[in-house]
Amino acid sequence: MKYYLALILTLVIVVCVNFSDAQELFNYQEPEMDGHREAPPLDGVEGSNDVVPDGSIDAQAVNPPPGPGHENPKNHDHPDEPGDRDKKLVEDPAALLVVVNKEYSLPGDYVPPDLVEPNITFSFTEDLPKRLMRQEAAAALELLFEQAAAEEIQIAAVSGYRSYDRQKTIFTSRAQERGFEVANRTTAYPGQSEHQTGLAMDVSGASVGYGLVQSFGQTKEGIWLAQMAPDFGFIIRYPQGREEETGYSYEPWHLRYVGLGAAREITDRGLILEEYVAEMQPVEAREEEPGEIGPGSQASGRGENGGY
Ligand code: DAL
Ligand code: ZN
Repeated sequence: MKYYLALILTLVIVVCVNFSDAQELFNYQEPEMDGHREAPPLDGVEGSNDVVPDGSIDAQAVNPPPGPGHENPKNHDHPDEPGDRDKKLVEDPAALLVVVNKEYSLPGDYVPPDLVEPNITFSFTEDLPKRLMRQEAAAALELLFEQAAAEEIQIAAVSGYRSYDRQKTIFTSRAQERGFEVANRTTAYPGQSEHQTGLAMDVSGASVGYGLVQSFGQTKEGIWLAQMAPDFGFIIRYPQGREEETGYSYEPWHLRYVGLGAAREITDRGLILEEYVAEMQPVEAREEEPGEIGPGSQASGRGENGGY
């Protein structure tokens, strides 16, 4: 009898612990940061576009295992300090096709040269740097939003440029709450966010209250965005099914400007940016670094629009 009671008690404890873990994973609340709250659900989990997994995606999509080149950072004890992986810097932070990922970082002091505020609808009213994008990207985004308005598609911009320090604040907060590994599935380490390039903008729609949630991808606005963005030079940078290679969960809201030709080809061929840029490398460069995507991925790539 005692044996059965002990067994039942153990089972109850195991179930409770697992349940509370799952709750923690799916009910993330945006922390207070920089003295202002990022206003969920409009800003969802900005820093990162920090996904609020909403149950519409399978566990694999929400929890991608680290892939090649996504090895754990060394600095587990001090997540707010640069780890070893910060040592590989991109060659040209201002290049249109710059690849910023878990292998290649931007210098901490890099600020894009030509940040401007696009004349589009935002999901928030405050005058914050996250309204900004680089000039060419901002102009392209304005055209995309004009097209959306013409088709009565209700979208709004949620988060654009972020400084290194802003990303550090966001990442540190997430890492302190949930640990480095979990935080880094949805939130880039400082220096490793495309938002620091000024070429990324998170965009969401009315159907999900302008939240940064994965179910946005299945809404009228999300489907429209995925289909139309390439015609304006943008790609969905973290697609579903490529989590292992990009290192991040599916983000149907994260637009990255790459220029018209690149956006069309990447989307039509189902590539990720790393693959597209690696293909542009001279054959010799690819042979020198077998199996690696991205390194060289630091193409000077100035794009067909003249670029940066
Ligand atoms: N959510 C993306 C990966 C970022 O934090 O930049
Ligand atoms: Zn984003």
